[in-house]
Amino acid sequence: MKQIRFGVIGCGLMGREFASASMRWLHLKDALPRPVILAACDTSEENREWFRRVPDTVFFYSDYHELLQNPEIDAVYCALPHNLHARVYADVIRAGKHLLGEKPFGLDLPACEEILQAVKENPGVFVRCASEFPYYPAVQQMIRWYREGAFGQIIEARFAIKHSSDMDLSKPINWKRMRAVNGEYGCMGDLGIHTQHLPFRLGFQPQNVRSVLANIVKTRLNADGQPVPCETWDNALLLCEAKNDAGDAFPMQLEMKRMAPGCSNTVEYEIYGLNMSARFTTDDPNAISYTVSHGREQGWTRLGVGQKPLFPVITGSIFEFGFSDAILQMFAAFTAELSGETVSFGCFTPQEALQSHRMLTAALRSYERGEAVAL
Ligand SMILES: NC(=O)c1ccc[n+]([C@@H]2O[C@H](COP(=O)([O-])OP(=O)(O)OC[C@H]3O[C@@H](n4cnc5c(N)ncnc54)[C@H](O)[C@@H]3O)[C@@H](O)[C@H]2O)c1
Repeated sequence: MKQIRFGVIGCGLMGREFASASMRWLHLKDALPRPVILAACDTSEENREWFRRVPDTVFFYSDYHELLQNPEIDAVYCALPHNLHARVYADVIRAGKHLLGEKPFGLDLPACEEILQAVKENPGVFVRCASEFPYYPAVQQMIRWYREGAFGQIIEARFAIKHSSDMDLSKPINWKRMRAVNGEYGCMGDLGIHTQHLPFRLGFQPQNVRSVLANIVKTRLNADGQPVPCETWDNALLLCEAKNDAGDAFPMQLEMKRMAPGCSNTVEYEIYGLNMSARFTTDDPNAISYTVSHGREQGWTRLGVGQKPLFPVITGSIFEFGFSDAILQMFAAFTAELSGETVSFGCFTPQEALQSHRMLTAALRSYERGEAVAL
């Protein structure tokens, strides 16, 4: 099996998800190049040491510049706090290593533009941004229906991600709740791309955005149990006028919430059309609901899709699909595209990340001014 030799920079939550996916490569039926994580880098010794459990990992660094000097590394997966994205991603690209960088791909628009400049200067380096939810088989079914024209004229579309971990007010504050590290976008930076990959790739072009942002909990406890300011936006509602390639004009709503009662990490994708509508939720991850018309009436039907992902797996199609399967599919898409294969739904591109930043920056301005901002 062909291999791609990876370094991981940032060995926290997502760095470990990638390590786990790289060790599950046998799960994929096709012989896609396997990511072999040769090197791990983290400033935290404890998080770096976790990678001693990964059989492939033989190089350990606390300074990412040393990892980038290692000629045995072909590609890098970066899962770092947002204020480090621009500097580290640009350094990775300029070192000639392929990059899968985590969202939001820069703290803000200028940071994203800095990364895009490095991409432009290094056309031989393959660069993508992480985004896994479109790889649920039920979402892939929605994509196929859309591309076949099954929806007809689009009436409306909605893309949402709703967390609830911040409902626990005793949870100590972390970098994701600090403006200096997480950025001015707040929840939109953290969650925005999960609501954008699908519509952007289907060609839903937002023409403008009007937003309502909410900072619901203004102080949180630090590690010592003392209240400190929590300045980031908790919840965001973005309403756009969008157009698609067929020329349909329709309302598109993006919803990013850290405080959504009763949710865990609930992703909801909904497309409503004149001929058919469909909706997906991670609360029912193996199914897609769609409408069937009976004369003038429409009825909702639930179709159990099961384990039929974009990249076939050894698991029987009757069994369930989950978050770690979506992560495996996303890395499979990255290695397949990197090896020159055509992938019907590829990873989020740097250009799409730029589009995301333009939209989120416009959403900040919209809320400040209380008006719609053109895109
Ligand atoms: N795709 C997803 O579903 C998803 C989910 C969660 C987070 N993320 C994204 O992943 C990225 C990381 O988030 P996380 O939840 O893994 O965070 P985390 O805090 O768990 O991990 C970040 C790691 O970076 C390390 N680090 C900090 N500064 C460093 C430096 N200068 N050099 C090397 N290592 C350094 C920290 O010690 C930590 O281990 C963020 O961009 C976040 O938005 C994506």
